[in-house]
Amino acid sequence: MIWKRKLQTDGGNSVVPALDTLNEASESSIVLVEQFPTLARGYDMPAGSDSLWQQGPVIEPGPMLPRFMASAADDVESESADRLSRRRLALRDALAASQPVVSREAFAGRHDQMLRLINAIEEQRVHVVIYGERGIGKTSLAHVFAETAREARYHVIYASCGTAANFPDMFRSILTNIPRLYHSSVMPNSAEAEAGDNFDVMLPEGPFGARELADVLAGVLGTRVLIVLDEYDRVVDVNFRRDVAELIKNLSDRAARVQLIITGVALNLDELIGYAPSIRRNITGLPMIPMSNAEMHDLLRMGERAADIVYGDDGVETICQMAGGSPYLVRLLGHQAGLLAMDDGRDKVTQADARRAVDLVIREWQASLPRRVQSNLAREEAKAHWELLVSAAKAGSSADGWFTVDDVYAETGGSMSQLTIERDLKLFVNTVDLLERREGPGDPHFRFGYPGVASLLMMSAAMARQVA
Ligand SMILES: Nc1ncnc2c1ncn2[C@@H]1O[C@H](COP(=O)(O)OP(=O)(O)O)[C@@H](O)[C@H]1O
Ligand SMILES: [Mg+2]
Repeated sequence: MIWKRKLQTDGGNSVVPALDTLNEASESSIVLVEQFPTLARGYDMPAGSDSLWQQGPVIEPGPMLPRFMASAADDVESESADRLSRRRLALRDALAASQPVVSREAFAGRHDQMLRLINAIEEQRVHVVIYGERGIGKTSLAHVFAETAREARYHVIYASCGTAANFPDMFRSILTNIPRLYHSSVMPNSAEAEAGDNFDVMLPEGPFGARELADVLAGVLGTRVLIVLDEYDRVVDVNFRRDVAELIKNLSDRAARVQLIITGVALNLDELIGYAPSIRRNITGLPMIPMSNAEMHDLLRMGERAADIVYGDDGVETICQMAGGSPYLVRLLGHQAGLLAMDDGRDKVTQADARRAVDLVIREWQASLPRRVQSNLAREEAKAHWELLVSAAKAGSSADGWFTVDDVYAETGGSMSQLTIERDLKLFVNTVDLLERREGPGDPHFRFGYPGVASLLMMSAAMARQVA
């Protein structure tokens, strides 16, 4: 066997398997499981499900091989199996977490955010910046809002920004989606209107700036245009942001019937649009905060309705606690837990299902990390500074992943000194390659070099607390 374990007593009561030797070239995904006490301890999981870490790779292949769900024979048994697979698919459709929500039927909670967004657009006539962490539901809100605005005859254009976005190309392509019919200079039934052109034909050829663009957009008549710029934080070009700020100023000064809705990963408004006092009164910020328990429960109810199952109170509690207000995690955990219950022939999702779902999600995350990251996480240094890493993960979870020594200090509740924190963070930049460091003006900033790691650490820490 490539790796061995020895048992070690932890504070005199619980038994934690400790890693003895590790050949980092292989078996590292199994080893990493031991990194997380929750997984290693094994809470009330069905017999055999924890065999992966206890017995290592010695698993009898026969019983583990996948089978068909339904029998091909035309009998009663196949009918019930059929029903099961239909429900599994229905649950997946209701709770799969890979896509943003685009329709109201699939959208849970967020009444307050929707109300504030509508109010900002309709009453205040300002531009809106939606900001918050990744997976919190910004894109989904933007899509569902767009559907609602279209019903009220707004002309909505959705554009997702890439890292290489540049101002003229992006807006030229956006303007190809606004019919020229909506320009004040174009008479209905005129040749221009009949030609079916769009606003882009009115732009100067070649590059143009915010002022020229505002000149064209100021002509919108007969509708109001909303331009959604999603994933704004990804844009690298600083000129792009400066031009967009300039555009907002020009559109506002000219009372154009065009409003921007910008969304991005950020802690606050300034981080996303830069410090621009001249446009401050023309924009309103809409922070996407974690979902409340009621909203998360709403989301799970969609799964209940689709697959004809019920999430029991303690199952809901575990899922909500682990998800920490992230709709993405509610879906991921709710989906897994629901499947586990159904596979077991039950309609009720229990707390044990929820915990196993957390376990599965952690394992899947862990397995998806590159080998190098997995083995770094399994190193002695990582084990010795596990609390610090979890605090760092929490500190980086509210923005684009970057955090300072002070942020980590706040997360530890003052249990470590700032000096110690800084020294240990540097260890994970230099010796153990888990963090990266950004130099520049002000305090040094750190972040996890590989994105999934922070979520993995937080979730397994939350699980450890639950089990304790
Ligand atoms: N209000 C909501 N109701 C149901 N699912 C949601 C809601 N908001 C987000 N989600 C789900 O959460 C995940 C992340 O949402 P997304 O809108 O892509 O977040 P962001 O744009 O902030 O990264 C997606 O799977 C999406 O389906
Ligand atoms: Mg998004």
